[in-house]
Amino acid sequence: MRYPVEPFRIKVVEPINLPSPEERERLLVEAKYNLFKIPSEKVFIDFLTDSGTGALSHHQWAAMMEADESYAGSRSWFRLKRAIEEFSGYEDPIPVHQGRAAEKLLATIYLHEGAKVVSNTLFDTTRGNFLAVGAEIYDIPTPEALDISSDYPFKGNIDLNRLEELLKEGGVKLVVMVLTNNTGGGQPVDLDNLKEAYALTQRYGVPLIIDACRIAENAYFVKRRNPKYSGWSVKDIVLESFRYSDGAFMSGKKDGLSNMGGFLVLRDERKRMRAKELLILWEGFIHYGGLSGRDMESMAVGLKESLDERYLEHRTGQVAYLTEGIREIGWDVMWPPGGHAAYIEVSEALAHIPKEQFPAHSLVVELYRRGAIRTVEVGSLMFKDAARYEFVRFAIPRRMYSRAHLDYTLDVLRDIYASKGNLRGFRITYEPPHLRHFLAELEPIL
Ligand code: F0G
Repeated sequence: MRYPVEPFRIKVVEPINLPSPEERERLLVEAKYNLFKIPSEKVFIDFLTDSGTGALSHHQWAAMMEADESYAGSRSWFRLKRAIEEFSGYEDPIPVHQGRAAEKLLATIYLHEGAKVVSNTLFDTTRGNFLAVGAEIYDIPTPEALDISSDYPFKGNIDLNRLEELLKEGGVKLVVMVLTNNTGGGQPVDLDNLKEAYALTQRYGVPLIIDACRIAENAYFVKRRNPKYSGWSVKDIVLESFRYSDGAFMSGKKDGLSNMGGFLVLRDERKRMRAKELLILWEGFIHYGGLSGRDMESMAVGLKESLDERYLEHRTGQVAYLTEGIREIGWDVMWPPGGHAAYIEVSEALAHIPKEQFPAHSLVVELYRRGAIRTVEVGSLMFKDAARYEFVRFAIPRRMYSRAHLDYTLDVLRDIYASKGNLRGFRITYEPPHLRHFLAELEPIL
């Protein structure tokens, strides 16, 4: 495909280095084959995450210079408050330092031991926070998502039949719709699917909460892939999406285009008051929630910039360029291309490595070994038995890398594909009880 023209030019640059092959090998051993432990200066191209890693615009930097760092009633908070209200249509938002702080508030306010949570697929920290209070999680993505190579446009959807069954059975305390569905391959959720899910939760009196961290990217796909909304602006699709919810939380590190930040909004005033009490205990006063004034200024501007359709065309175009290139090499990918990342599914290409030996992690290690490229496993290492796929995720930071960085990545992937039979599995030598992939230590199986 044609590479999309950048709707920006570069004003500040940050040098990157390619360590020697010997150094890469040594660093892998020292990091116990866990790429979270590799110093970022030793990474040439960093696709670990699109969270908080993007480039800021000059409008954001300018706003940050004007930040007010007051504890209470700061000008920066009122700017952010207005920006969140305009972005979401919700009133009286609660600032948090990042998404998972809102997840902990939600878990404490809505859940308890044995409470059921239903989702199109929770992200790992959301899952972790909900499991930590004893909740039972039901991830029910639409059956169309199982065929990763089909052209079905909205593989992030929730399975509405299964949702109704679970609601009928009872005990569901929360339904969470993740836009886009990160763990399910960065796939969008159709606005109509959200509307139907909301109607069901209303009928059964269960609150529906949106995980909105990539809601602008999701809205762009709704506009492009559902003809009903092709004449709508992304801004209006985002607002319409929020209308079909009882609350939402957002990590501002994604579509907030910021290095740090997030918010929680809730329609229920009593729950909102409870969240504010806990916020003061855990995060900070209700006018900053763990954020500096500079963070709040950056997010206030970022929320607006994320709705710029030329920016979104470029962003999704980059992901599509990388995904298509990977598919042409022969790797299986999550198709069609999603919002923030390309996903390789390795089950077939690395069929000689059993799931218990983490085949996707094996490719993650090889990408670093051959090209100092950092990616992340989203499979059996991250999700143990709950893994639905064996993905390697290439999350593209916003407004940061150019075409040549993506072409370099494709060259490395082409080389690995040619000798993929030589890749070996891994075993875990240490793992913590929760979210094991962050701290796990591994060794290769020779
Ligand atoms: N929900 C989704 C869908 C996410 O992707 C993330 C973070 C969170 C919630 C938590 O937000 O990091 O601000 O606490 N995802 C990052 C990633 C870390 O790499 O996908 P956070």
